Amino acid sequence: MSLMNAHRVSARPKLLVSAGIAMLLLSAAQAKGEETTAGNGAERSIDKSVFGELPDGRQVDVYRFTNANGIELQVTNYGGIILALKTPNVAGEFDDIALGFDSLEAYLSDAYRQANPYFGAIIGRYGNRIAGGQFSLEGETHSLATNDGNNHLHGGEQGFDKVLWQAEPFENESGTGLVLRYTSEDGEEGYPGRLETEVTYTLTDDDELLVDYQAVTDKATPVNLTQHSYFNLKGEGSDTILDHQLMINAQEFTPVNDTLIPTGELRSVEGTPFDFAQATPIGERIEQDNEQLGFGGGYDHNFVLARDDAAADELVLAAKVWEPESGRMVEIETTEPGIQFYSGNFLDGNLTGKQGKAYGHRSGFALETQHYPDSPNQEAFPSTILEPDETYRSRTVYRFSAQETFDS
Ligand code: BGC
Repeated sequence: MSLMNAHRVSARPKLLVSAGIAMLLLSAAQAKGEETTAGNGAERSIDKSVFGELPDGRQVDVYRFTNANGIELQVTNYGGIILALKTPNVAGEFDDIALGFDSLEAYLSDAYRQANPYFGAIIGRYGNRIAGGQFSLEGETHSLATNDGNNHLHGGEQGFDKVLWQAEPFENESGTGLVLRYTSEDGEEGYPGRLETEVTYTLTDDDELLVDYQAVTDKATPVNLTQHSYFNLKGEGSDTILDHQLMINAQEFTPVNDTLIPTGELRSVEGTPFDFAQATPIGERIEQDNEQLGFGGGYDHNFVLARDDAAADELVLAAKVWEPESGRMVEIETTEPGIQFYSGNFLDGNLTGKQGKAYGHRSGFALETQHYPDSPNQEAFPSTILEPDETYRSRTVYRFSAQETFDS
């Protein structure tokens, strides 16, 4: 099938706001040559516009990228949030598959802050939970914000999802994208060390979204960055994701206690509703009487990715999701040892998305590549401590396609 949607792409007005970006577009056209005129007439593009203003007056922008097949990615420098991702179904019709909002106000609203679903955001310094908001490092105990009962979740009260990043659009051989930079000061949210962070989104002409993370610190500190997009492959605002078929490349998962902190055990998925080694509809076993499903109100667990002999910095297949009606598929590869599968159990219809439709229970799923939750308190888990003489590096690839059947 073809991923073309020439009409839509060529019809979109380009909102060029700076000479820098205009130059990027020019070089995009020059660099593309045959690639971009290969049949569908779609063109790479980058544009930028104002998304809104923070209460302190700082301007927030939105960047739109399209690739040579018409796939469109929208990102804001507030929280590095992926606002929209438009991909074709088997018939070549584009829909936005990422849950989120049209306005900055919606992301800043009290209702959003209370529900705190972290739609589309970069998560840091620590993706997932740290028990009791505490950990010890080099003989010192550090106390973090406790924003999820007694636990610390996704970086605290003002994690990387709620800060303004410095943004720089770029174009290279594989595509276009955005470099986001943020420096987290020593002591921010209770974490030691000044952490300089860089996250790069690249939308390639092979219909991939690459997310590259990098960080350096001046004191030993835990770091576990991730991306918190929720997808509904039928299109955001569609009912549930229960019919989506999911494959997770894992033989084990990390069971949790009733506050979703891992017990430390690596448990085999075999014979449990956590076995996604063969693609299975998300809804098939989600209501089973199972203590682990009870704790999360569904799936909200970290899976131990099968890395076989892959080196720590090598990409491995983490998961594939396919939706039968649209034929849309996303494949996820990562250098990380784990992936959190969250089936949107805490979405309750109180937030209204881009099409004015309420985001109901399980209307989106998140697959968050990461180190395991609570690693700073769990010696047996792969370490998340970044030392001053090291560079944190992590890569995740999302590959989008559409096909009639699922060759999982
Ligand atoms: C967590 C969920 C949480 C959600 C939104 C996920 O990563 O695992 O427990 O409700 O993020 O905060």
